[in-house]
Amino acid sequence: MADGKKNIVVIGGGIIGCTSAYFLTRHPSYDPSKHTITLLEATKIAGGASGKAGGLLALWAYPSSLVPLSYKLHKQLADEHGGEERWGYRAVHCGQVDCIGRHLEDKKPSVEGKEDRATDGLANGDGRPDGTGNVSLQKRSKEAMGRLRAAGVPADLDWVSADSLRMYDEMGDPSTTAQVHPFQFTTAMAELAREKGADIRVGAAVKSINYSFGGDAVDGVSYEDKETGKQETIPATDIVIAAGPWSQKVYPPAPISALRAHSVTIRPSRPVSAYALFTQIKLPSNFGRTNEVNKGKGARSFKASRGEQIVTPEIYARPKNEVYACGEGDHMIPLPKNSDLVEVDESRCQDIVDYVSSISDELREGEVTAKQACYLPNVNASGSGGPLIGHTGVKGLILASGHTCWGIQNGPGTGKLVSEFVFDGEAKSAKIKGLDPRMVL
Ligand SMILES: Cc1cc2nc3c(=O)[nH]c(=O)nc-3n(C[C@H](O)[C@H](O)[C@H](O)COP(=O)(O)OP(=O)(O)OC[C@H]3O[C@@H](n4cnc5c(N)ncnc54)[C@H](O)[C@@H]3O)c2cc1C
Ligand SMILES: *[C@@H]1O[C@H](CO)[C@@H](O)[C@H](O)[C@H]1NC(C)=O
Ligand SMILES: *[C@@H]1O[C@H](CO)[C@@H](O)[C@H](O)[C@H]1NC(C)=O
Ligand SMILES: *[C@@H]1O[C@H](CO)[C@@H](O)[C@H](O)[C@H]1NC(C)=O
Repeated sequence: MADGKKNIVVIGGGIIGCTSAYFLTRHPSYDPSKHTITLLEATKIAGGASGKAGGLLALWAYPSSLVPLSYKLHKQLADEHGGEERWGYRAVHCGQVDCIGRHLEDKKPSVEGKEDRATDGLANGDGRPDGTGNVSLQKRSKEAMGRLRAAGVPADLDWVSADSLRMYDEMGDPSTTAQVHPFQFTTAMAELAREKGADIRVGAAVKSINYSFGGDAVDGVSYEDKETGKQETIPATDIVIAAGPWSQKVYPPAPISALRAHSVTIRPSRPVSAYALFTQIKLPSNFGRTNEVNKGKGARSFKASRGEQIVTPEIYARPKNEVYACGEGDHMIPLPKNSDLVEVDESRCQDIVDYVSSISDELREGEVTAKQACYLPNVNASGSGGPLIGHTGVKGLILASGHTCWGIQNGPGTGKLVSEFVFDGEAKSAKIKGLDPRMVL
């Protein structure tokens, strides 16, 4: 526009939309007297994957064109806004572990007031009750310690049972790996954007993007106001599509697909050290809670007998005595209309709890605090591993989506680059030609 006025509309209040709004309000060219920034979120800020992800940040993530910028910005944001306290930013260790899972026994005292004895040959040096109800305080026997050292296991990774751990392979250390609490981070970004003038509208479901005559430039956005049920249209010179797995619904050419994944949070029985673990757990035959253990409310049906299986949950220790764990993705239920309609399969969540319980007493004896599911946005186009960030070819229409399993790590970098596409016309802080949406649109 000749007068330099801009009406910028961001579609989606996940991490990508919220960091975009944040960096738009911090861009040197942003002038509230000339520019409006409106974020439209259909359901709830961080109601999708951005509120239910693990929150691992890593210099060894991908794509390499974006990761270093975003990793650095995470640190800067944490320093500037007290992220350590506000959204749990901290450096962590990260490793791949090979484990042997153990059967889950009933830990409740029996009628005589005695603890049930472990039946799978566990040594008492592992913090388990002995036959008298005594719990050894010396967590690990000398013999076990020697074996763990030989397997490369760090001494402070003491919340995975010594009898389960077979190997530890370091993937990252606190100089290359960090974490945030994704829900706290995303909502803080929205709040900080609001403080500098962004208009954050929740309950605003975008129905259509309106184009000027001929369709070569954007003109406005129509959305349904959930509260009034009314259709509203706002003018737009610049539109940022940050609707994650829903991006194709608002912009059909976007090659973004959705993958559901379940996760849980657990308050462990005691605080655990700061590790993110990519596990490989070999479960024994007929693994699962028995009817006896699980009778009563919430009981699950008796598990059919089955052989050994290998499962691979990811486990992230978090500050404030929380542990997050997630499982593999599934295509069983297609993406629903809204983030609050996502179906949670209780048994898949319980499986994750059981898997991680099989290698850790602290988790088995902990309290499950959330069972949840969400959809992560994948790029469904050959030649791109995602994400797609930049101009679409329609004037004023910018895509920022398809962040796969690294959207938390890559959120700030994406937001910064979006602000540059809007105000500078091009990416300045990183060379991201390889992420250009026009390659696949
Ligand atoms: C189990 C799991 C673990 C993960 N762990 C990590 C991790 O450790 N580290 C990491 O970096 N990444 C992780 N990720 C990936 C990360 O969660 C995603 O890449 C990221 O959250 C995607 O953010 P987004 O903003 O693009 O999408 P979303 O979070 O899905 O946000 C999109 C938003 O758009 C809104 N919306 C949709 N349609 C409309 C519409 N028509 N109008 C208005 N609003 C609309 C939705 O309501 C939603 O709030 C994980 C993902 C999963 C599933
Ligand atoms: C627990 O161990 C202590 C010290 O070994 C012993 O004195 C005590 O009797 C034990 N408690 C029980 C209930 O056996
Ligand atoms: C925007 O597009 C929708 C759907 O095509 C249409 O119903 C609406 O009237 C348009 N609004 C404006 C202001 O052009
Ligand atoms: C990916 O795209 C192809 C065609 O473009 C489509 O047939 C397929 O269903 C898509 N896959 C997913 C998971 O959306």
